[in-house]
Amino acid sequence: MSALPPYLLPDTSTIGPEGQLMIGGCDTLELAAEFGTPLFVYDEAHLRARCREAVEAFGPGVNYATKAFLCRAMARLAVEEGMNLDVSTGGEYHVARSAGVPADRLVLHGNNKSLDELRLAIADGIGRIVVDSFDEIDRIEQLVSEGLPVPSVLVRITPGVEAHTHEFVQTGQNDSKFGFGVASGAAAAALERLSSSPAVELVGMHAHVGSQVFEAKFFEMAVEVLAQFFADYDLPELSVGGGLGVAYVQGEEAPTIEQWAAGINRVCKEQGLRAWVTAEPGRAIVASAGVTLYTVGTIKELPEIRTYVSVDGGMSDNPRPVLYDSGYETFLPRDVLADRPRTVRVVGKHCESGDLLVREAKVPDDLVVGDILCTPVTGAYGHSMGSNYNKVLRPAVVFVLDGEARLVVRRETLDDLLRCEVE
Ligand code: LLP
Repeated sequence: MSALPPYLLPDTSTIGPEGQLMIGGCDTLELAAEFGTPLFVYDEAHLRARCREAVEAFGPGVNYATKAFLCRAMARLAVEEGMNLDVSTGGEYHVARSAGVPADRLVLHGNNKSLDELRLAIADGIGRIVVDSFDEIDRIEQLVSEGLPVPSVLVRITPGVEAHTHEFVQTGQNDSKFGFGVASGAAAAALERLSSSPAVELVGMHAHVGSQVFEAKFFEMAVEVLAQFFADYDLPELSVGGGLGVAYVQGEEAPTIEQWAAGINRVCKEQGLRAWVTAEPGRAIVASAGVTLYTVGTIKELPEIRTYVSVDGGMSDNPRPVLYDSGYETFLPRDVLADRPRTVRVVGKHCESGDLLVREAKVPDDLVVGDILCTPVTGAYGHSMGSNYNKVLRPAVVFVLDGEARLVVRRETLDDLLRCEVE
């Protein structure tokens, strides 16, 4: 029934003279009219504030996990604010480098880095590689024996911690494709091999327990597991990965980046760790900085069943509801404070019934075809996991700041759909 809770909106959100949502001093309805829908709108001041919070909490060089949302403007923004970047594929590496980010400010992740990805990164002078398998060590040794410089590496340890989150985004448990498990003895063996290999400079350890994790204790448990190795290998760096959860819907509450860091730093101190402790948040930097604007195209009332409200995007710009059953709020930016007494199902325009955006969406009574409908907290893993399913065009992305809107990713065109076709 109630209006949208304001804490789910980007930091600079205000209400305009007609009750409409303003972000970064820009009228969201005007943005929809100017740039079209679906549209990702990011509050630049909010993005910058979260980056600064991470830098204050962990120190300069804390990494932004680009998988959450990456384009050149985002890469530059994070780096300008003092963050380094976590990239997990050659593709993310390429976008970051083409944004002008120096290679030594990048950390390369991945459970299956190819020889070519490793070659490019090492030759370029990558800052850190997070080594994930024995096969990868073989590849690095081969590349260094061919004359490439010796890279600085962290070893990814799987601490055997089962964080409470969706199974698909849990990574710290023993049964994981990531890292070297502690329980199996692989972690000890990897540390042994890396510390004596002339092909790497082992500078630290890394653990990432999962994503969208609300409880600090899981990160702290991972630190406790890693501390035993630090006793044997006095390495200068510890990265606790990313994974801090954010609130998506009414009633959810997440720790701030500052609180997250404070808990981790406290445990490190208790464990007597002398290493520089760093992290790589993604979602916590970008999720609530972004909203998606859609246009309502059809409203289908099925008597005694439900009402389907179809918008002009869907699982191609936000696959999270389909993949993880993730919940979102909805509201009409033309009247942010309106009560939302009606429950409808918001769906996309894709040709499958699973194409769901909000299962039980609360909307005002006067919702009509043509309305701009907004889902907040879509700044992470929406644009980045988007697709061209049904040949739907990827939306544009605008950054708003001080009353100015800057198009940072243009909407795809029909010709873009044919870009890679050779016949
Ligand atoms: N570091 C590593 C090694 C990671 O694997 C991840 C996320 C992060 C950092 C950043 O995690 P964050 O702070 O964003 O939670 N697509 C899923 C999330 C997958 C996360 C994968 N790894 C979702 O939409 O919820």
